[in-house]
Amino acid sequence: MRYLLGNWKSNGNGALLDAFSSQWPKFPNTIQVGLALPFPWLTHPFSCAWRGAQNVSAFGPGAFTGEVHAGMLKELALDFCLVGHSERRHLMGETVAHTAQKVAALIEQTILPVFCVGETLAERQAGQLETVLERQLEPLRAIKASVLIAYEPVWAIGTGVAATPDDADQAHSWIRNWCLAQGLVVPPILYGGSVSPQNAHQLAQIASIDGFLVGGASLKPDPFFEIGAQLAR
Ligand code: PGA
Repeated sequence: MRYLLGNWKSNGNGALLDAFSSQWPKFPNTIQVGLALPFPWLTHPFSCAWRGAQNVSAFGPGAFTGEVHAGMLKELALDFCLVGHSERRHLMGETVAHTAQKVAALIEQTILPVFCVGETLAERQAGQLETVLERQLEPLRAIKASVLIAYEPVWAIGTGVAATPDDADQAHSWIRNWCLAQGLVVPPILYGGSVSPQNAHQLAQIASIDGFLVGGASLKPDPFFEIGAQLAR
């Protein structure tokens, strides 16, 4: 099974969701498709196969103003939730400890965590790719429940410069070997970072890529559907 997950970030509205819903039947049904939506749109009716959130509180219910806990997401019957997206790690100060709490909270509510990891350009240039991945993956070490991993190099997110198929393959293979070394069942590993209809075909040829997490190109139905068609081939 391959996966195509869109990440709307802080974008979109109900009308856009309606546009996706009306075109949904065009989607190849051989891949698992979903959208990670901003909280206000999670209750908007739409016919997307999977509905997901982009974030969850590290805490349970209580006095945590502005937080949305995993039990609330469960009530909305969500399928998945992103954890550790680079924008949360780098712009909102999310730590490895937070990501560990969030994964645990989601698993307790049987919501699939989509666990995002990836290095900055400076880290890559300093030869720290593997150290960074290892540090970020730590919360998954003892997790026996199902997760998805998304490898999203920070330098590729929103820049228009995707990783080359070789670079993505190298990182995906490293993550795969790390999982095996921990005695984990290797989860599906998605690639994210400037995936577009133009580069999806080449990236989709790589066997270690089990799908895409798509930001900018998930904000209109046509490019998103086109990427889905490339993935399904
Ligand atoms: P992008 O974002 O496709 O716009 O690069 C990907 C992501 O942040 O998940």
